[in-house]
Amino acid sequence: MAFDKLTIDDIELKGKRVFCRVDFNVPVENGQVTDDTRLRATLPTVKKIIESGGKAVLASHLGRPKGEPDPAFSLKPVAAEFGKLLGKEVKFVDDCVGGKIKEAVDSLSDGECILLENLRFHDGEKKNDPDFVKQLAELADVYVNDAFGTAHRAHASTAGIPGIIQPAAAGYLMQKELEYLGKAVADPKHPFVAVLGGAKISGKIDVINNLMPKVDRLLIGGGMTYTFFKAQGYKIGNSLLEEDRIEMAGEILEKAKSSDCEVVLPVDSLIAENLDSTETKTALAEEIPDGWLGVDIGPDSIKLFETKLADAKTVVWNGPMGVFEKKPFSEGTFKMAATMADITQRGAITIIGGGDSASAMKKSGYADRVSHISTGGGASLEFLEGKELPGVVALTDK
Ligand code: 3PG
Repeated sequence: MAFDKLTIDDIELKGKRVFCRVDFNVPVENGQVTDDTRLRATLPTVKKIIESGGKAVLASHLGRPKGEPDPAFSLKPVAAEFGKLLGKEVKFVDDCVGGKIKEAVDSLSDGECILLENLRFHDGEKKNDPDFVKQLAELADVYVNDAFGTAHRAHASTAGIPGIIQPAAAGYLMQKELEYLGKAVADPKHPFVAVLGGAKISGKIDVINNLMPKVDRLLIGGGMTYTFFKAQGYKIGNSLLEEDRIEMAGEILEKAKSSDCEVVLPVDSLIAENLDSTETKTALAEEIPDGWLGVDIGPDSIKLFETKLADAKTVVWNGPMGVFEKKPFSEGTFKMAATMADITQRGAITIIGGGDSASAMKKSGYADRVSHISTGGGASLEFLEGKELPGVVALTDK
């Protein structure tokens, strides 16, 4: 599948003010960035701009401020951290639009880099307000979007500016994310297996419906398992249940019977009396006793899932298998991470959706042994749902 949007390699950067939308929405605690994955992932694009003699004007949101300045969401500490990673000064300005900001941008020399203050300090960002778009566009000669993690938002800096500034090109991270996810969904090597976990069916239903006709196997774990169990009349004790999705879960299982997709549910569960308990035991899928709840997939399910993944050539994993943040309940998720590393080594393409599964992958120590970990949580999910991402649609076609 050829990439059909202009990329940063297709546009002239030298001497240009390059407005580069990045996703620097990273965790910051006490003025320190505590996870720099997204910053590192953006380095190739920013280096390319600088080394080509462009002026890198970086813009991002951080958190969800209420459309006005809020020091708790300032990008200032991120500028310092990104500068360290880049090995070069990253200037910082305390706003993202206005005369003072334009002056700072216009006075950049070729090869310099500046980070603007949080775009969401203006409510025009989320509203994609035309006046705000115009003000941002005044800071740019060309536009690059490397913020895959925000590509599902139709905001001023993702969907608005490309309406005014052309060419609008994808950065390297954006391109890489779309190529991995796009190829997996559109042109996978078979067997193609999807592993879906996480708490709720409601959050994954569109992914299930979109992937079912494409995958050979769909493995289901995590909290949503118990709604599927309930739909089959199993006893689920106090396990997480979405009452209003029982029917939907039943329909998915029914649909699977007449499709080529094998839906695989856990055959046992790790159970505990509550989420603070360290005492666990194993229960058969259909027999979770009253007063207990499922907190992870059980040992036989781990083996079953390993078997179902053994011959996979393409795998997409989104959502943990259990409450992996708590050590006694983390084995199913971490074993899944190990299996991903193992099958990657044997030639499978393995793609981990962002959010919880990405963080589980990192905690497991196997992060550098899979094909691709997405930097986008919501964005990768929407992509797997088959939706168009506004930040991608807005880029210039090749
Ligand atoms: C993310 O972290 O998923 C992106 O940065 C998007 O953030 P948002 O959900 O606040 O739009």
